[in-house]
Amino acid sequence: MTVPAPLSQRSDMVVFLNGAFVPADQARVGVMTHALSYGTGCFEGIRGYWNDAAEDVYIFRPREHFERMHRSCRITSIALPHSVSELTEIARELIQRNGLRENCYIRPFAYKGDEVIGVKLHGLEDHFAMYVWPMGDYVSTTGLRCGVSSWRRVDDNMIPARAKISGAYVNSAFAKSEALRNGYDEAIMLTSEGHVSEGSAENIFLVIGNELLTPPPSENILPGITRETVMQLALRELGRNTRERIIDRTELYIADEIFLTGTGAQLAPVVEVDHRPVGLGVIGPVASALQRIYGDVVHGRCADYMDWCVPTYGKNAAIAMPTAPLAMPTAPLATGAATGAYATAANGAHAPKAGANGKAHKPRTPTSRTPAATRK
Ligand SMILES: Cc1ncc(COP(=O)(O)O)c(C=O)c1O
Repeated sequence: MTVPAPLSQRSDMVVFLNGAFVPADQARVGVMTHALSYGTGCFEGIRGYWNDAAEDVYIFRPREHFERMHRSCRITSIALPHSVSELTEIARELIQRNGLRENCYIRPFAYKGDEVIGVKLHGLEDHFAMYVWPMGDYVSTTGLRCGVSSWRRVDDNMIPARAKISGAYVNSAFAKSEALRNGYDEAIMLTSEGHVSEGSAENIFLVIGNELLTPPPSENILPGITRETVMQLALRELGRNTRERIIDRTELYIADEIFLTGTGAQLAPVVEVDHRPVGLGVIGPVASALQRIYGDVVHGRCADYMDWCVPTYGKNAAIAMPTAPLAMPTAPLATGAATGAYATAANGAHAPKAGANGKAHKPRTPTSRTPAATRK
């Protein structure tokens, strides 16, 4: 397999830099750039999914990603020169100009662009770049072996984890390299208090008995778009409410299922933590069901979730952006009370199951397993 040349050497690719589309091999950033020295930038990672039937690349939840980017920039005192819809248009145009007709990754980056020495956030010039790149799996989705990291997650008063700040990724890099060098696939990071926080670039979910659990944002997680997507899918498709609560390290050892979520990781089940099997040591039913549903949703194969998929080439693309945020349901639903239909999109893949008549959809049979403690 030939390794593609780095983006900076590609005359055939286009990037967006400070207001203009430029050939990738002509986009220049100085070696003295503030963000390069000090990590003073904010970014996003967004996926585009190729849909064969629609012959389009669906950008998944760009509005939520770009809204989060605006929040990250506010925290970091970076002026982002484009609105959420402008950013979405730039992303679409980049995919079009680069002729990508495959799964891809979109990386916008807002950063302190001055070529100066001196650590601060204010009084500096803000620059903005965006590029796209073909992308497959980021981590294995067939069962990860994880280790609890000796590196603790950055605290809100150190480098705020709720902002996607480039410099904060040194924290993730320490944890990831330690995990890989110790023979694991991925790291699970604890807060300075010793509670479970998240993976190096993923949020974490546990299934313990009938409960689906995930740490709240106050546990120094990046509030993931995939995390929120999976919470909605679990509720609407499986009738499972997600409980956000503090999670102890040893709950990782007694969980029936664990899985990681992220734009890169998608939904990656964990089968082992610190050399202990998770549940039966294989992918569990909740992770497996959610993984399948998530895959269909992001590829634009589910009619009920097409608001999340913004087409790149489609002629209605410009008006495909939803105008109001989708509210997260707050009240827990009893098992079996899901109202969502796992209906598939009418784009040639499957026929919709229900929904047009306004009737509540029959939930999928929620999967449950015997808690580890009661298993023989
Ligand atoms: C530290 C960290 N946590 C969680 C996530 C998952 O966030 P999202 O689902 O929005 O990609 C990411 C990925 O961007 C991340 O870098």
